[in-house]
Amino acid sequence: MEYDYGKNKEESPEPAEADIAGTLPDWLQGTLVRTGPGIFSVGETSYNHWFDGMALMHSFTIKDGGVSYKSRYLQGDTYKANMEAKRIVVSEMGTMAYPDPRKNIFSKVITFLNHAVPDFTDNCGNNIIRYGNDFYATSETNYIRKIDPVTLETLGKVDYLKYLPLNLVTSHPHYDKEGNTYNMGTSIADKAKSKYIIFKVPAATKEEDAAPALKNLEVICSIPCRSLLTPSYYHSFAMTDNYFIFIEQPFKLDILKMATAYMRGVNWASCMKFHPEENTLIHLIDRRTKKEVVTKYYTDSMVVYHHVNAFEEDDHVVFDVIAYDDDSLYDMFYLDKLNKKNGNLGSSNKAYSSPKCKRFALPLTDKGSEVGADLVKLKYTTASAVKEKDGKVLCQPEVLCGDVEVPRINYDYNGKKHRFVYMTKVGMSAVATKIIKLDVETKKKQEWTAENCWPSEAVFISRPNAVEEDDGVILTSVINATPGELGFLLVLDAKTFKEIARARVKAELHMDMHGHFIPQSS
Ligand SMILES: [Fe+2]
Repeated sequence: MEYDYGKNKEESPEPAEADIAGTLPDWLQGTLVRTGPGIFSVGETSYNHWFDGMALMHSFTIKDGGVSYKSRYLQGDTYKANMEAKRIVVSEMGTMAYPDPRKNIFSKVITFLNHAVPDFTDNCGNNIIRYGNDFYATSETNYIRKIDPVTLETLGKVDYLKYLPLNLVTSHPHYDKEGNTYNMGTSIADKAKSKYIIFKVPAATKEEDAAPALKNLEVICSIPCRSLLTPSYYHSFAMTDNYFIFIEQPFKLDILKMATAYMRGVNWASCMKFHPEENTLIHLIDRRTKKEVVTKYYTDSMVVYHHVNAFEEDDHVVFDVIAYDDDSLYDMFYLDKLNKKNGNLGSSNKAYSSPKCKRFALPLTDKGSEVGADLVKLKYTTASAVKEKDGKVLCQPEVLCGDVEVPRINYDYNGKKHRFVYMTKVGMSAVATKIIKLDVETKKKQEWTAENCWPSEAVFISRPNAVEEDDGVILTSVINATPGELGFLLVLDAKTFKEIARARVKAELHMDMHGHFIPQSS
């Protein structure tokens, strides 16, 4: 069975009622909104990389035991410009586009000057996030697109740059119980002062007006980049009650190379480089003082896209991430590689560094400890943090589990000690064939798999008034590659990992990135 990554996917804008096998819990009411790449070629032009594809949003609305599905293209400026030109005219990370190929060298130079600080795409195909009462499709550029999560209509375009000098912003913010959203981004506009900025978007007020929630944005702190011309790339961060955790990894964006990429005819991704000879800094920011803690934590070189969670315990901050030994993951998703052998990562020239779920522990105190001592006093982890002569602390992780990605937890436990992580199992293929539940305490795993079925990210929904962490369901959108069979929204009992229901959708389902569950009451 093969998944055709490069094929343009059809949208299904009319709601398709699903056939339900099994019974959905009566308390499960709401909409799972997901997004991912959907269009890979326009006219004679094609994107190079799967992540570049124009966004296709999906929604599964669960109501009174039934499920209806629809999907719509994100109709941003990028989509409209490409469709109008009948070719790709807006650059994405892995594809540099030239709006008018007939231009001579002089006009190319003028265009180059306009691209020195790139005007990024608003093709937001990575995640759906919330600021205030508004939902947005996001990628990692300065643009986000407001959407109606029920109709999947594309609404206003919001530019972070209007509110803060942010050129890149993560699509994995955090939320607190009060409805505030926390996110971070990188400011590269002023080259001599590249910095990372953590900010808060307050919860919507009663007297909410039509202006974007970002208008009330507050800066929490700024962290200078350790190398000003090469800020680190990062995809997420972690938050506890009292701390933010930010990993400044040696996977870097070369600003000067970026400024000349358009002229040199290369994509922006080629301006990102992994530096295995450099270490990884772990920044711990105290939310109370809005300053970094004095201790300097670091670990070996690694590449992290997804944080799992972080929590505080006995004078430590513990955090789990999905870590790679290098940056080979991004390269694996170039479409020419994916389409050769069903995304068989092992067929690539470059060895594939498989992801591992790793636990780090940062001791908050080193009083009375000798140089060379392991400062981690937690009994349940083998993660270490050794004090060095210069006062820095070298952290080594505990490996919790291998070959896993897109981690989700019961988000009620975000920032608190969690026990269960829900992830897709990835092997030597880019398609996930299993979802697993990892008990980080016992290291035991439960898994769901079915023949020719490719699940997406496993989203946990808590049962109302649940007491136990895993009392709820897992929702995942599953592509069914068995000829004649329908794809489905799978509902698992999160505790037993047994199927409760399948909502078989009479429309083609597609591989996507991330999603957000919006309970009906919201
Ligand atoms: Fe992500």
